[in-house]
Amino acid sequence: MVSSLSNKKVAVVTGSSSGIGYETALMLARNGFLTYATMRNFNKSENIKSIAAKEGLPIHITQLDVTDRVSINNAVTAISAETGRIDVLVNNAGYVLEGAFEHLSMDEIKAQYETNVFGLIRTTQAVLPIMREQKSGIIVNISSVAGRLGYPGGSAYISTKFAIEGLSESMSYELEPFGIKVVIIEPGVIRTNIFDSVVVAKKSKDPNSPYTQITQKMASSFEGMMKNASSPELVANIVLEAVTNDNPNLRYLAGKDAETWLDAKRNMSDKEFYKMMKQNLM
Ligand SMILES: NC(=O)c1ccc[n+]([C@@H]2O[C@H](COP(=O)([O-])OP(=O)(O)OC[C@H]3O[C@@H](n4cnc5c(N)ncnc54)[C@H](OP(=O)(O)O)[C@@H]3O)[C@@H](O)[C@H]2O)c1
Repeated sequence: MVSSLSNKKVAVVTGSSSGIGYETALMLARNGFLTYATMRNFNKSENIKSIAAKEGLPIHITQLDVTDRVSINNAVTAISAETGRIDVLVNNAGYVLEGAFEHLSMDEIKAQYETNVFGLIRTTQAVLPIMREQKSGIIVNISSVAGRLGYPGGSAYISTKFAIEGLSESMSYELEPFGIKVVIIEPGVIRTNIFDSVVVAKKSKDPNSPYTQITQKMASSFEGMMKNASSPELVANIVLEAVTNDNPNLRYLAGKDAETWLDAKRNMSDKEFYKMMKQNLM
C-alpha cells in the first residue's frame, strides 16, 4: 500500500478503457493510488466504474483524448485542481498501424504518430510543470519489445515505439535533477483488444499487393504468438513494481517472449538476428 487514505499518491493513466491501461488503473487504485483512469470515450467506462464501486476503489474517470490538446489540458487542470499534485503518469494510449512500408500513406503514418508519439509528448508536457513544482514524480511510458527490434509489416508502429525509447532515455537525464523519474515498459505480446483494433494501411488491403505473402505470413506468425500471450495484469504488476520502487530501472521487460527476443538481440550479431527473425516470422 502506498500511503494513508488521506494522503494518497495521485496517478493518471491514459487509454484506461481496455487492456493494459484498464488493468494498470485498477492495479494502482487497488494499491492505494488515487487513480485518474482517463479515456477518450466515456461510453467505455461502465466496466471500470462498476468494479471500482464494488471494491470501493479510489478511481475517477476523466475524459482525455491524447490527440486533442484541449482535452489533455482540461483533464490535467481538473486533476491538479482536485488533488494539488500528480505523482504518476502512465502514458499508455496507443494502437497499431500495420502494412508494408511502401504502402503506408503519409496520412496513415501521421495519424499513428499523433496518438503513439505526439499524444505521449502532449500529455507529458502538460503534466511536467506540476511534477517539477512538487519536485517529484514518475513518468511511465508504455513502449514495447517492438521499441527494440523491427519486423515486417510493422515499420510505422515500430518506429513510434523506437521514438518513445529515445524520448524517454533523453528525458530521464533532464528530469532527474528535478526529482522526476522516467520508466520505459517493454511488453511482448499481451492479450488485449489491440489486435482487434489494428488499422491496416489501405493499400496493404489489396490482395494483388506484391507484399501480400509477407504480410499474410506475418499475420499467421502473430496468431501463433497470441497462443502464448501474457495477460495485461502482468504488465500492470510491473508498472506497480516500478512506481513503488524508490530507485526504479529505466527499462522493464514484460513477458517471457519479450525476454527471449531481447536476449537473442543482445547475444547475436545483426546478421544472426536477422536470419533468426526471418526463419521464425517469414
Ligand atoms: N497488446 C500488446 O501485445 C502490446 C505489446 C506491447 C505494447 N503494447 C502497448 O500497450 C499500450 C496499450 O495497448 P493495449 O494492448 O492495452 O491495447 P488496447 O486494449 O487496444 O488499449 C488501447 C487503449 O488506448 C486507447 N486509445 C487509443 N487512441 C487513443 C487516443 N487518441 N486517446 C486516448 N486513448 C486512446 C484506447 O481507447 P479506445 O478504447 O477508445 O480505443 C484503449 O483504451 C499501447 O501503447 C500498445 O502499443 C501493447
